Parts: sequence; C-alpha cells; structure tokens
Amino acid sequence: MKILILPGDGIGPEIVNESIKILDTLEIKFELEKALVGGAAFEKFGNPLPESTLKLAKEADAILFGAVGNWKYDNLDRELRPEQAILGLRKNLNLFANFRPAILFPELVNSSSLKSEIVSGLNILIIRELNGDIYFGKPKGKRLSPDGAFKGYKEAFDTMRYSEPEIRRISHVAFKAARKRKKVLTSVDKSNVLETFQFWKEIVEDVHKEYQDVKLEHMYVDNAAMQLIRSPKNFDVLLTGNMFGDILSDAASMLTGSIGMLPSASLDINSKGLFEPCHGSAPDIAGKNIANPLATILSISMMMKYTFNLIEESERIEKAVKKVLANGFRTKDISEGNSVTIGTIEMAKMVIKEMK
Ligand code: IPM
Ligand code: MG
Repeated sequence: MKILILPGDGIGPEIVNESIKILDTLEIKFELEKALVGGAAFEKFGNPLPESTLKLAKEADAILFGAVGNWKYDNLDRELRPEQAILGLRKNLNLFANFRPAILFPELVNSSSLKSEIVSGLNILIIRELNGDIYFGKPKGKRLSPDGAFKGYKEAFDTMRYSEPEIRRISHVAFKAARKRKKVLTSVDKSNVLETFQFWKEIVEDVHKEYQDVKLEHMYVDNAAMQLIRSPKNFDVLLTGNMFGDILSDAASMLTGSIGMLPSASLDINSKGLFEPCHGSAPDIAGKNIANPLATILSISMMMKYTFNLIEESERIEKAVKKVLANGFRTKDISEGNSVTIGTIEMAKMVIKEMK
C-alpha cells in the first residue's frame, strides 16, 4: 500500500504534513514517499510536474495532494504554471472520476452562508468528469481570428468536446454511486445551447437504461447553480462535466460552512486515486498555523474507503473529526460564537487524540 505525498505550495505543506500524522494512528503499514509538485517543483526543476514526480505517482496506489499555486507564477507560460501539475496528474493517471461530497456537519450549521433550515442535514455528492471537456479539448491556443466580424484580430480559443466513451464511463460511475444512496441522479448540462452537452444528455439517457432503479433527471447548469443555493437538499448525486463541476463544487462547498472542510477523490477505473482538499493553496495564510487541515484529513478518510477499501479506518477518521467539532474546536475559517479557535497543528492533534 504505497502512498505518494505531494504537499505542493502555500498552505499545502502544513496541512499535509500535519494530516499524515493520523496515518500513524491506524495500525496499518503504509509505504510513504514524498515529492515536489507545483510551484515548489518549478523552483527546483523548472517544471511543476517533473518526470520523477510523475513516475512516483504512477507507481503509487494512492496520492495525497495538498494544493498548488501562487500569484507569483501568474505571468508564467501556461505549461509552467503550478496548476498544470494537478491537471497533468489527473490526465496522465486517467483519474477521470472526481467525487466531491458536500456534507454539512451539524456543528457547523451556523458557519454556512445559508439559513439553517435550508442547509441543515445537507449531504450531496458531486461527481465531476475530470479528463475531458474544455479543460483538455484540443485545439486550443492563440491565433489571428480566421473569420467573423473580428477576422484578422488576435484571439484565443479552447475547445469543448466529449467523446461517447468518456461520457459513458463517468455515467456508470455516477449511476453506481446514486444506487448506493437515494437512487436519484441529476445530470447537469447546457443542452439548450451546446452541442457537446446535447450529446452528453443523450448518452447519459442511454446508460440510464442499465440503471432503471435510479431516477434520472436533467438540469441546465445555470438552473443547477440557482437550485444549489435555493434548495440544495433537493439534490442527492449530481453528475457534471469538468468545467461545470469545477464551478458548482465551489458553490456547493460554501453551503457546508467552509471550503476548508471539503475533501475530494479523483479515481481511475480501478479505484486508484488522488485525494485532495477542494480548496486552493491560500498563500496569504501560509505558514501561519491557521489553515484548516480537516479537508485533507477527510481526504485521507476517502482514500481509506475508495482505494484501500478500509471502511472501518475511514469511519474512524470521520468520527474523530465529528467529535472534535462537537467538542467545540474550530480553526479560524469556521470559528463562531462560543467555539474555541485552534491552529492547524492543534486541530490535527485533536483528531488523532479522538481516534485513539
Ligand atoms: C479544482 C481546481 C483546479 C481545477 C485548478 C487548480 C486547476 O480549481 O480542483 O477545482 O480547475 O480543476
Ligand atoms: Mg475548482
């Protein structure tokens, strides 16, 4: 059971280094490797995803990823920017299925930006396709506009595209996940405007024939964004493309009180996976011992469950997190009235204490 640890940039190293201490609490022998990624790798190797890191990632069974990025890299060429590291890992390792649960812990109901009656008990799962769409579609680039009203002017372009097998495989993942929950799946598209998503909808409907016990509904992405804020509990599992999933999952994260609480799993067809918090590298708070490590800790819980099938261990971590919150301890991002604010290091320690 090999785990590659990729702390990355900003708050990445502190949240990851504190969180992995919980692995020692599980009486299981994992083989851990660590490597550079993102801006940290760029500084040393001139490449945000060096060959050596990619090789280790391919050899590992699971990867724990912190976060990458810093505004100081904003002017680098696209291929050198830290974000390319996570995109490169997702693509090179065929991690096409991204699970982003948005669960509101009852203790955090007052941290949500929505009224408690709208969000309390929220437990939804966003399944985002991660290898296709406008993120990776070729061609993309800059050129002189070849036609239209602005012919001859400089322009930039990306390509939105999805192939049938790509839509099928993510649909199967989503229907299977829905089957294990409330048996309702909402497929998010923009089929009223985009050819790509008209096709998406057709394929999802075709795959649905194999999952007649699951209720399928389709929703336009703009409406889905509105419904997420209006009545999020009407959803159970959402299936989205890469781009819409990026946006909707950030919106959904806020319902839970803090993006600092949301873990994620990115899986290949054999459940090998990369696990990462949904939040970014937050360079403005890096090194201050105030970042919330819970999304990373919960990502480890997802790793136990999805890659290693260690269900008890996964639950042990999750229960410990709940207990710490119930005891009133919070990092700054989720602190409120009578809670006790603690730092990154202390939060990880508290979780370990509860696990024991
Ligand atoms: C995410 C992030 C990434 C994405 C960035 C860092 C490339 O926003 O995981 O949601 O756009 O997918
Ligand atoms: Mg995002």
